[in-house]
Amino acid sequence: MKLLVCGGAGFIGSHFTRIRARDFGDDVVVLDKLTYAGRRENLQDVPHTFVHGAIEDPEAVEQALDGVQAVVNFAAETHVDRSIAEPDAFVKTHSLGTHTLLEGARAAGVRYVQVSTDEVYGSIEQGTFTEESPLAPSSPYSATKAGADLLVWSYFHTYGMETLICRGSNNYGPYQYPEKLIPLMVLNALHGDKLPVYGDGQQVRNWIHATDFARGIGHVLDHGEPGAVYNVGGPDECPNLDVVNRIIALTGRERDELIEYVADRPGHDRRYSLSSERVRALGWEPQVRFEEGLAETVAWYRDNAWWWEPIRSGEYRDYYARHYGKALG
Ligand SMILES: NC(=O)c1ccc[n+]([C@@H]2O[C@H](COP(=O)([O-])OP(=O)(O)OC[C@H]3O[C@@H](n4cnc5c(N)ncnc54)[C@H](O)[C@@H]3O)[C@@H](O)[C@H]2O)c1
Repeated sequence: MKLLVCGGAGFIGSHFTRIRARDFGDDVVVLDKLTYAGRRENLQDVPHTFVHGAIEDPEAVEQALDGVQAVVNFAAETHVDRSIAEPDAFVKTHSLGTHTLLEGARAAGVRYVQVSTDEVYGSIEQGTFTEESPLAPSSPYSATKAGADLLVWSYFHTYGMETLICRGSNNYGPYQYPEKLIPLMVLNALHGDKLPVYGDGQQVRNWIHATDFARGIGHVLDHGEPGAVYNVGGPDECPNLDVVNRIIALTGRERDELIEYVADRPGHDRRYSLSSERVRALGWEPQVRFEEGLAETVAWYRDNAWWWEPIRSGEYRDYYARHYGKALG
C-alpha cells in the first residue's frame, strides 16, 4: 500500500517507516518538518520518498497525499518539559496541524490513524486506564494531544471519515532524542555526567519498545475499527529511579558517583498504566520485555556515536544548560 507517514523522521515514526517498508513492502512517503527532533539520518537505511514540510501547511499536505491510500500521523512536539517552557509550538502542531492534515485526508478520502499517548488520561495511582477512561491531561503537551484526539474523533462522527486513534505508553529504543529519560541517562552515564533524577524518582511508567508500538499501530492501521481508540501499552512497569539504576549497572558506573536529585517537574504525573485488551484482540502482542530491550538500547547508544555526537554538540547543549542549569561534560 502507498502510505503517508507524517513525522516519520522522528523516533517512533522512523521505526514504523522501517517496519512498513521492509516487512510489509509498503511504498512510504514521509512528510516531516525536521524540527530539532526530526532527522533524515533516522531513515538512512529505509527506502522512502521524503517531503520536507509541516502538517499545518495545506500545500505540503496536498503534495504528500498524492496517490496515498492511508495516513499515519506521528508529527508532534513531544517533550513535556519543553511544553511547560514554550507551549506555542505544541498548540500549533497538535491543533492547527492535525486539523490541516485531517482536511487533506478527508478531501483525499483516505483512512487516517492518529498516534497519541497514554498521557491524555492523566495520572493513575492504581489499576489501568482503558479506552473508556476519561481524558484528564495535565501538561500543555498532553492537553494539546488530547485536543487533537477529540478533533480526530469528530471527523469520524461528523463526516464519517475512517479515523482511528492509537495511544501508546512510554516508548524507548534506538533513535530517541536524548532529552527523554532513557537516552538522557544512557548518554550522561557513558560520558560520566551527572544523572538528573526528578523529585524522588518514584514516578512509574509503563515501558514499551518503539518497535512494539510501531507494530501495534500497524495492526490498527490494517485491522482496526474506524472510530475506535486503541491503547497500546508495554509489558512492564518500572519506577524512573529503578530505570536509572539499571542503566548505571549496564554502563558499568557507580550509583553514588552519578545520581543527582533535582527539583521535580511541575505537575509531574505519578503513574501511567494502560490496558491493551482491544489491540490484543486484533492479534498484537508486545515482543520485547523491558530488561532485554533496555540492555539492547544501552548497547545501541554505546555503539552508535555517529548518531548522537552531532546532537550532543549542537542545540541540545544549550537546551540542557538552560533546563538543568549546568553544562554537559
Ligand atoms: N515517545 C513516546 O514515549 C511516545 C509515547 C506515546 C505516544 N507518542 C506519540 O508518538 C508520536 C511520535 O513521538 P516521537 O517520540 O517519535 O517524537 P519525536 O519528537 O522523536 O518526533 C516527532 C517528529 O515529528 C516531526 N514534526 C514535529 N512537528 C511537525 C510538524 N508541524 N509538521 C511535520 N512534522 C513535524 C519532527 O520533525 C519529528 O520528526 C507523537 O505523536 C507522540 O505524541 C510518543
